[in-house]
Amino acid sequence: MSTVTQPMQAYRASLLHFHADPALSSDAHSWIEDGLLLVEDGKVKAAGDYASLASALPPGVAVADYRGHVITPGFIDTHLHFPQTDMIASPGPGLLPWLETYTFPTERRFEDLAHARSVAEFFVDELLRNGTTTAMVYCSVHRESVDGFFEASHARNLRMVAGKVLMDRHCPPFLRDTCVEGVRDSEELINKWHKHGRQLYAITPRFAPTSTEEQLALAGELARSYPDTFIQTHVSENVDECRWVRELFPNHRSYLSVYEHYGLMRQRTMFGHCVWLDGEDWARMADTQSATAVCPTSNLFLGSGLFDFETADGAGALLSLGTDVGGGTSFSMLQTMNEAYKVARLKGSYLPALRMFYLATLGAARSMQLEGTIGSFAPGAEADFIVIDPKATPLLARRTSHANSLEELLFALALLGDDRAIRATYAAGNLVHSRLPS
Ligand code: GUN
Ligand code: ZN
Repeated sequence: MSTVTQPMQAYRASLLHFHADPALSSDAHSWIEDGLLLVEDGKVKAAGDYASLASALPPGVAVADYRGHVITPGFIDTHLHFPQTDMIASPGPGLLPWLETYTFPTERRFEDLAHARSVAEFFVDELLRNGTTTAMVYCSVHRESVDGFFEASHARNLRMVAGKVLMDRHCPPFLRDTCVEGVRDSEELINKWHKHGRQLYAITPRFAPTSTEEQLALAGELARSYPDTFIQTHVSENVDECRWVRELFPNHRSYLSVYEHYGLMRQRTMFGHCVWLDGEDWARMADTQSATAVCPTSNLFLGSGLFDFETADGAGALLSLGTDVGGGTSFSMLQTMNEAYKVARLKGSYLPALRMFYLATLGAARSMQLEGTIGSFAPGAEADFIVIDPKATPLLARRTSHANSLEELLFALALLGDDRAIRATYAAGNLVHSRLPS
């Protein structure tokens, strides 16, 4: 996507973004009730008071009037599977049978580039309808799936991270690569797509049970050769899976330590789930600056377990939220916040709405080492933002009309909101989704 110079654009609404973690600072966010967001050449030029910025606007700049709405940075979903779009909401008695029954047969179809392209088009539009402007995406084992996904993302000039799944054992033969082939294909895809426009590549061993030790070792070497790529995988999601890993890797202290042994824990590694990590694992997560995608709708749907925010926060780990579609049951990061809140309650802790909005924006950007690029309105950040409508449904309108604080407003949006609350989505300053008021 070429970066054609765009004229300045201006958007009037309430503005919310973060510069720190609300769990660590009482001065973590910026809320401007009557704000103006200025965008130039796809980047944020300024975010401030309407009264002070509007008077200095160059002549001829029209102001898009979103008064009554809240503009925030676009949501960042740090874990989901694009080939699982068509099998969302398929019930199964736990992770491993669910993978066998639904996931593997569904992913088989992605050997066909035409199929991959058509699902990718729908998937990317669904992300945008839900206000998600960046996602960390698992493709299937097939190179075609990666091409299909990145083509759709690149055509819309989105900042996306994705990668080919590596798996060379414990899966049907039609989904199996070999350790050499899998890593060779990944390297070719890195050269083709990593930093091509706004696209970024993630080395993607599915999870330890479906990779031989040779494949994990080669993935670790690849990650060392391309240190600015991402790594994504699953860890400690489900007790049966954890037991299986103990049997397959009896010489390792923990499931997580298998990944560390093969050089797969570093900055820009995103571990999905982390439900059953112990204290030592959490210390390694923090020390290596590896990040966690907390996936509450999936963990509840598959009965995997309850994420422990208190222990993760106590260790100082990097946290973000993931939908984990199609194990997860919604593309909406608002609905993901809703479930995260309830998971925290069941573990005896409390997630304020401000923290949840942080996790879905700046927290995720920090987890991905992309602070300053996405996730906030810092000057020079890429202009990926969403317009949220607090009156999107009759119930939201009724509830938010008497919100007594910002926290109350955001809490109602997180608990009651979904794709209907996303009035518009912008990526690099371009309108990429608009929901006409009904
Ligand atoms: N673990 C390995 N593969 C998967 C997957 O596709 N979904 C989930 N939720 N967990 C996994
Ligand atoms: Zn997953």
